[in-house]
Amino acid sequence: MKALVLSGGAGTRLRPITHTSAKQLVPVANKPILFYGLEAIADAGITDVAIVVGETEDEIRQAVGDGSDFGIDVTYLRQEAPLGLAHAVLIARDFLGDEDFVMFLGDNFVFGGINDSVDEFRKTRPDAQLLLTRVPDPSAFGVAELDEQGCLVRLEEKPARPRSDLALVGVYLFGPAIHDAVRAIEPSRRGELEITDAIQWLLDRDRDVNTTVITGYWKDTGNAADILDVNRRLLDLLEYRVEGDVDDASEIVGRVRIEPGAVVRGSRIAGPAIIGSGTLVQDSYIGPSTSIAEDCVIRNSEIEFSIVLRESSFDSISRVESSLIGRNVHVSRGPRVPAAHRLVIGDHGRVEISS
Ligand code: TTP
Repeated sequence: MKALVLSGGAGTRLRPITHTSAKQLVPVANKPILFYGLEAIADAGITDVAIVVGETEDEIRQAVGDGSDFGIDVTYLRQEAPLGLAHAVLIARDFLGDEDFVMFLGDNFVFGGINDSVDEFRKTRPDAQLLLTRVPDPSAFGVAELDEQGCLVRLEEKPARPRSDLALVGVYLFGPAIHDAVRAIEPSRRGELEITDAIQWLLDRDRDVNTTVITGYWKDTGNAADILDVNRRLLDLLEYRVEGDVDDASEIVGRVRIEPGAVVRGSRIAGPAIIGSGTLVQDSYIGPSTSIAEDCVIRNSEIEFSIVLRESSFDSISRVESSLIGRNVHVSRGPRVPAAHRLVIGDHGRVEISS
């Protein structure tokens, strides 16, 4: 069995973070989201992995390399534009041959890995096996309609009027019949070759398409709120490990990881939280569900329920929460008078100011 990991795409919903970097590499609990997927694939015993990449190819190659750190063997497939999930299968034809494969969306997060689904697929060998989960807002996803017996009858991509609350999770298992399907379908109204259309093509020809409704946590990390939520869930599992340099004037409470090379002075860190190596936290409060990446400086500031990417700094900022801060961002206090905000914000930036 092989794996096809999708890490192309534009990531428009995560701008401006994704103007300069791949959304699959946004860290949660200080590790790129893509790495969790690759680990799940390796854990399922799959070593032959292709990663579909687009404009951010260089960055993904640099982060993942040949895959040996994960115990997998990675081939990169360049997709000239994000022409759809089924298009990614189309361009992977030579790599996949006639083998079964798992297709994994590189920005999706599945708690508990994929072993159960892969085992089930290996036992039953359908043409496709889909994972479904109940969501409150199905119109943002591929939506499955099942009959009374629980058999799949129809799939729709981001329907305006969803027929169920069952969304497609970003992990699909396929046999070789999917290749006929992706060749046969036409681009959708949004100009993409939709995997839902390809699976519908199989259904219409009475091919075997199985579904499993999962109850575990799954997230398509399309926007900042989703990423903060995955971060929170992961930090809840952290083990207390303080390897950095913490002075006596500091207080560390709860599930906190302070990486080697981090320095904490006169601060309170109330976990779950992680502080990356090379980061200085001074006279500050870091609250629950916060990940501060490597080489940051947090001084006289209060931050909670947030992610701060590497090489960023906060100086004398009284309260930051529910925030996703990019790399090399510097936030500091301006002069109090005149009462005006001085901002240098990149294209498509979003800032909420309440005073
Ligand atoms: P999506 O979240 O559906 O699309 P996107 O990355 O373009 O994001 P946005 O909607 O914010 O613009 O993509 C799911 C995953 O699949 C993601 O990791 C990107 C990847 N992908 C490809 O590799 N090729 C493609 O053609 C598409 C559409 C997505």
